[in-house]
Amino acid sequence: MEARFALLPGDGIGPEIVAEARRVLEAVAGRFGHAFTFDVQPMGGAAIDEFGDPLPQSTLAACRAADALLLGAVGGPRWDDPTAKTRPEAGLLRIRKDLGLYANLRPVQPHRALIDASPLRRDVVEGTDILFVRELTGGIYFGPDGVDEDGSRAFSTMEYTTAEIARIVRVAADAATARRGKLTSVDKANVLEVSRHWRRVAADVVAAEYPGLEYEVVLVDAMAMHLLSRPRDFDVVVTGNMFGDILTDEASMLPGSLGMLPSASLGDPGPGLFEPVHGSAPDIAGRGVANPLATILAAAMALRHALGLSAEAEAVERAVASVIERGLRTADIAAGGPFVSTAEMGAAVAAQLG
Ligand code: IPM
Ligand code: MG
Repeated sequence: MEARFALLPGDGIGPEIVAEARRVLEAVAGRFGHAFTFDVQPMGGAAIDEFGDPLPQSTLAACRAADALLLGAVGGPRWDDPTAKTRPEAGLLRIRKDLGLYANLRPVQPHRALIDASPLRRDVVEGTDILFVRELTGGIYFGPDGVDEDGSRAFSTMEYTTAEIARIVRVAADAATARRGKLTSVDKANVLEVSRHWRRVAADVVAAEYPGLEYEVVLVDAMAMHLLSRPRDFDVVVTGNMFGDILTDEASMLPGSLGMLPSASLGDPGPGLFEPVHGSAPDIAGRGVANPLATILAAAMALRHALGLSAEAEAVERAVASVIERGLRTADIAAGGPFVSTAEMGAAVAAQLG
């Protein structure tokens, strides 16, 4: 098949890791007989420097024309000035909103060979396999906000409509149906009106359309605790934008390194956005030591979710698993032992694909 990827390397380690994901996609194209084209576009801090805008019109247009977007990471200390007109992160929020990417899938599945890299005990983490489904274009990230003219007060507002809740719950419930059949909805219904609405709508959707699912609701503070004490008990977890942001960073520590976790942001219709969960790691940028596997696994999610190429996606995931099993490690997962460079890791995965 023919497919066009928009590549958004972004800032920090972004260009290094996206280059390796591209190398792996080229290997997939060669092995399976596909024609992939790659359109590299500026975004984030790099685009602020060049265009004064973290998401220039030309980048957004290229994204709309693509079948899938692969993003490295955005942000860094250079653009952290709190008085600046715009920030790199604003580009990411706009791309999510403008392309209608409301469903953010973040799978957390510690790799067997890496479990001792987890800060938690092996017997707690082993067997964990959670899919977080985070609502991505609503909630407090996009609600009415402002600062009073005299600077004495500021506010941000969490809002959710019935339609926004129902569509994200359906994405999560479909995923749970295809997995182990358990869905957990996370909210703060003991305090927030918006959460009580979330809880009512979610319960209605599940009761009417997914009566066979095992369904539970958990308060977000309790969830923060359960994730560390009994992560194995969860299958699919659905929650709002900010709770999902916080809980997925927490959960990303279960496998020991953020460097392994991919994420997909989907809407319908239009291209999805695929990226590592980790950030731009400016402290190690340009040194060739970053772990490209999260971005490579994000490319696998693009093959599966944007192009419908599940055999190809599985081939990439198997290639990643086998280089790990062979003992190849980047610095972040080497536990002080020998490690390979970003490019060596990417090349090993590509070579494994044949
Ligand atoms: C994430 C990030 C973003 C978010 C930032 C960079 C805007 O933390 O994707 O989780 O808060 O959504
Ligand atoms: Mg986050």
